[in-house]
Amino acid sequence: MEDITDSTTIVQTDPAAMLAARMEAGLVGHAVLVERLMIALLTGGHVLIEGAPGLAKTRSVRRLADGVEGSFARIQCTPDLMPSDVTGTQIYRQDSGAMEFLPGPVFHNLVLVDEINRAPPKVQSALLEAMGEGQVTAGGRTRPLPDPFMVIATQNPLEQEGTFPLPEAQLDRFLMHVVLDLPDEAAEMEILDLVETELRTHAGREAPTLDHATLAAMQEDVLQVHLSPALKHYMVALVMATRGASDAIDLTDRIRHAVSPRGTLALASSARARAWLHGRDYAVPEDIAALAPDVLCHRMAPTWRAQAEGHTSRTILAEILSAVPPL
Ligand SMILES: Nc1ncnc2c1ncn2[C@@H]1O[C@H](COP(=O)(O)OP(=O)(O)O)[C@@H](O)[C@H]1O
Ligand SMILES: [Mg+2]
Repeated sequence: MEDITDSTTIVQTDPAAMLAARMEAGLVGHAVLVERLMIALLTGGHVLIEGAPGLAKTRSVRRLADGVEGSFARIQCTPDLMPSDVTGTQIYRQDSGAMEFLPGPVFHNLVLVDEINRAPPKVQSALLEAMGEGQVTAGGRTRPLPDPFMVIATQNPLEQEGTFPLPEAQLDRFLMHVVLDLPDEAAEMEILDLVETELRTHAGREAPTLDHATLAAMQEDVLQVHLSPALKHYMVALVMATRGASDAIDLTDRIRHAVSPRGTLALASSARARAWLHGRDYAVPEDIAALAPDVLCHRMAPTWRAQAEGHTSRTILAEILSAVPPL
């Protein structure tokens, strides 16, 4: 078996490396998150970040927004939010006597949706439809969203009260689900020093490093990364295991909701982007194994019984990864 430790040092030369370095410089201990955000940017995917308040979720997204050309909007979700607060509204113009569409915050290149699980289901589905289709139907017309278009949503850990958990069918729209942990002692010290320095030097925004043409060229490059037939078999074998159809591991009675083909495709495209970020024009099993938890776990759900026995999507996927041989 290959070494599947999550080595996240991004070696691809500028401008991707410059952007990643710029994000990492202001984020202590978030190399994995930065890599995941880069992968989503390169594949046109959306990311769900989960973690307690105060773990630099908003900060991470702002740093990404600062580094990439384009418009940025933030939506703070609350239980009284309406779909039109996100997509936009028809307004009557007194002067012309005509109705006019006022685009909502979703019509931006990068959209931060904070605390998505506080938004009511109707808002969540409007948003997730926009993410899936790249367009919004409002005021009787279908309007395309800008290109590039990327949503980064945050959610507090689901145990916290007063939330509307996203249904699995909607979670599937996210390329990846990244879970943040509390920092350790050394990281806490580093965060103190970093923020102190920033405040004292009045560190401001730098100009974006990445323009749309360069991003589009990088995305084309990523599409050329080679996935060998053996590697495709490996990905399919992992996904089949979540469906209880694997010789390597039997999970029929532990999985309630299995990974869909959208999950397989997401694994393929993110593996390509990870390989490219590491300076390769071919993906390796390590790319798959490192990304599989963040790409697949939110697309599957254990049975209630399995949950009661202490299993989670993440523990089950870890078992799948050790049972299913890479090649
Ligand atoms: N890993 C980290 N690196 C740098 N700053 C951090 C980190 N974790 C927390 N902070 C600081 O904590 C504060 C809260 O960050 P914020 O992005 O608002 O958190 P969240 O959106 O997760 O609630 C910010 O001032 C940020 O600078
Ligand atoms: Mg925040």
